[in-house]
Amino acid sequence: MSFEGYRVAVVGATGQVGTLMLRLLKERAFPAREIVPFASERSVGRELEDGLRVRGLDEDSVQGFDLALFSAGGGTSGEWAPRFVDAGAIVIDNSSRWRMNEDVPLVVSEVNPEALVAHAGIIANPNCSTMQMVVALKPIYDAAGIERLVICTYQAVSGTGRRAVDELLDQSHALLHDREIAPPEQYAHQIAFNALPHAGSFAPGEDHTDEERKLMNETRKILDDESIAISATCVRVPVLTGHSEAVNVQTRSDLSPEQARELLASAPGVSVLDDPDSALYPLAIDVAGRDEVFVGRIRRDPGHPRALDLWIVADNLRKGAATNAVQLAEVLDERGLITPRTRSAA
Ligand SMILES: NC(=O)c1ccc[n+]([C@@H]2O[C@H](COP(=O)([O-])OP(=O)(O)OC[C@H]3O[C@@H](n4cnc5c(N)ncnc54)[C@H](OP(=O)(O)O)[C@@H]3O)[C@@H](O)[C@H]2O)c1
Repeated sequence: MSFEGYRVAVVGATGQVGTLMLRLLKERAFPAREIVPFASERSVGRELEDGLRVRGLDEDSVQGFDLALFSAGGGTSGEWAPRFVDAGAIVIDNSSRWRMNEDVPLVVSEVNPEALVAHAGIIANPNCSTMQMVVALKPIYDAAGIERLVICTYQAVSGTGRRAVDELLDQSHALLHDREIAPPEQYAHQIAFNALPHAGSFAPGEDHTDEERKLMNETRKILDDESIAISATCVRVPVLTGHSEAVNVQTRSDLSPEQARELLASAPGVSVLDDPDSALYPLAIDVAGRDEVFVGRIRRDPGHPRALDLWIVADNLRKGAATNAVQLAEVLDERGLITPRTRSAA
């Protein structure tokens, strides 16, 4: 028997994250013998890069896959991820639909890859702002523990989807040309030249957005520590790509900024950019297109003897979504966790 590679589905292949997942599977030479892109009925038949043709989801088309990477929103994942699993595939899902289910591991490749073994078919990719933060927090957590986090995010519009990117560009263009802007559709208010303390949505009677709740709940699940106290404010800013986060970390034991800088400099997936004298710190416009998580402004919080302040920035579409999904596929492959259904006689 020889192994010819996996048969991989990419669901949401025409979207921002899906397009990147297709590209990364190729760039990183994931052992796929066939990649099949899926999207909504609107896109069926459309030809993508490399001549791949978009298919629609139906009972027949979801059969015969080893792996399915989903980035098509929670509704599509809720309906179709279990059908891919029933048909024998492992699903890696970018939506929030399954993340907090007990039998669904929530995994960041550098942080808790060991959680993958417990999957029951579906594996969840964390929310983008949680993802980049835990990559930077993990070495600190391992060295000194974490008692409390106070987080403020500055999140790019691409985190909302392609239509939000268009809305920011259209509004900016209109305002710069002295024209009236169309009523906002993606956000409650104008996003151009503004900052909205409303990333995500408010459920009735809730004083935190779902994005803020995701940061709290997903961080505790990934670090497997329900005792971490977390306060979060998620802000949407008129940036195209790259989420920035100001994070105050209160550790359980002493950790100096110098020690934290050293730990972060040698941590997998992290790059330290920290020289304020030369105005060197991570910026959203510089990290777009990069796979690492960048950390700077590492300093002692003068208000607490065991707290540090960090500035954490990453490409929300890459490490925040597509890169981690493909890295999880790679870990599954390396650890022999994908059932080799596609072995055939040599
Ligand atoms: N953007 C981020 O930073 C980020 C980060 C982490 C996670 N995510 C998650 O990733 C997912 C996609 O985000 P995105 O930014 O790539 O969105 P997007 O650019 O708006 O793309 C959405 C994709 O989903 C497809 N789709 C929509 N409805 C569908 C249906 N009923 N059946 C099959 N496919 C359908 C779309 O196909 P058509 O082109 O045919 O409409 C498109 O391929 C979301 O769940 C989001 O929460 C996004």
